Amino acid sequence: MADWVDDYLQRVVEKIAVEMQHLDGKTPYIPYDGRYSDVVVERGADWWTNGFWGGLLWQVYSTTQRQTFLETAIIQEKRLNRALATFNDIHHDVGFMWLLTAVAHYRVTGDQQAYRTGLHAANLLAGRFNIEGQFLVAWNDHPGWVIIDSMMNIQLLYWASQQTGDPRFEKIATHHADTVAQYLVREDGSVGHIASFDADTGQFIELLAGQGVSAHSAWSRGNAWAIYGFALTYRQTKNQKYLRLAEKIAQYFSHQIEQSDHIPLADFRAPAEPRLHDTSAGMIAACGLLELSLWVGSKQAAEYKMTAEKILHSTAQQYTNWGDEEDGIIGGGTEAYHRPATYEVPLIYADYFFTEALLRLKKRALFIW
Ligand code: GLY
Repeated sequence: MADWVDDYLQRVVEKIAVEMQHLDGKTPYIPYDGRYSDVVVERGADWWTNGFWGGLLWQVYSTTQRQTFLETAIIQEKRLNRALATFNDIHHDVGFMWLLTAVAHYRVTGDQQAYRTGLHAANLLAGRFNIEGQFLVAWNDHPGWVIIDSMMNIQLLYWASQQTGDPRFEKIATHHADTVAQYLVREDGSVGHIASFDADTGQFIELLAGQGVSAHSAWSRGNAWAIYGFALTYRQTKNQKYLRLAEKIAQYFSHQIEQSDHIPLADFRAPAEPRLHDTSAGMIAACGLLELSLWVGSKQAAEYKMTAEKILHSTAQQYTNWGDEEDGIIGGGTEAYHRPATYEVPLIYADYFFTEALLRLKKRALFIW
């Protein structure tokens, strides 16, 4: 394996150790003026990205066995668990939140309280199932909305069925995946962000713009969630239709990024100006392509791996910040097309997926999903 992967991994571990000191128990999201603040204070204990720092710590702990990473990851999990007590604001992102913290903790140490927390979160997610529409509701203020990111969250349900032997969780996940495939994945391999349904009858109403340019554009991070989410759903179900979907979406994504040096634009159908990138989409897609490479023939696997490496290499050359003074490793992440305050900034999940992808290339990643 190319030396650059080892080199970046070593730098990641060093930078995480420094950020851990800066943070002193806080939970990072976007660094403002170079330093992370505490997103739990700013956006609440239930903010959807709150698990990524814990997940990063579990990844670097698993590869270094440095106790301080493990201890800080457990502190993060306990902070996050406050959201279980407030409950009202809990949404479908419980997968992102607790797969990366409690379930990772359980996978690494067998901790029984972490196991119960993971199952608690899975039950909350399962309880969001709309029977008429066969989907998991994304957010509480719109009981008929389904979003593409959910393909990552449903992995918590597959985990819960494996652990308990109770098929309810996996069946809910698979029905939801079918609804997402039907309404959010387009024929050309692009995807929409939000599908709106009548919460009472379950009838599809329309697609909505969400974090992309418009209802009919191609938000690149949504594309990336779909590649990785459907590839993981294939891993869990071994149903070929999910593999074919993941490959179709991956082909669309790979073709689009060839035109921008393997750094995704925030939306592949955006107007020429402003020319906005979203490196986080590339990091997620790199993990998705590496997951896909495990399930296809050797020629196709080599292509997916090569594309993932090109994304990682190009992003690392143009967007990494290895300095100790400023927090955040990967710059150039865009939260949403219509939110200028978060154009091309470091996003914690870009750092998480960068690290997971590097560890996947070295076959040392902790399986989190
Ligand atoms: N809401 C999930 C994302 O920003 O990707």
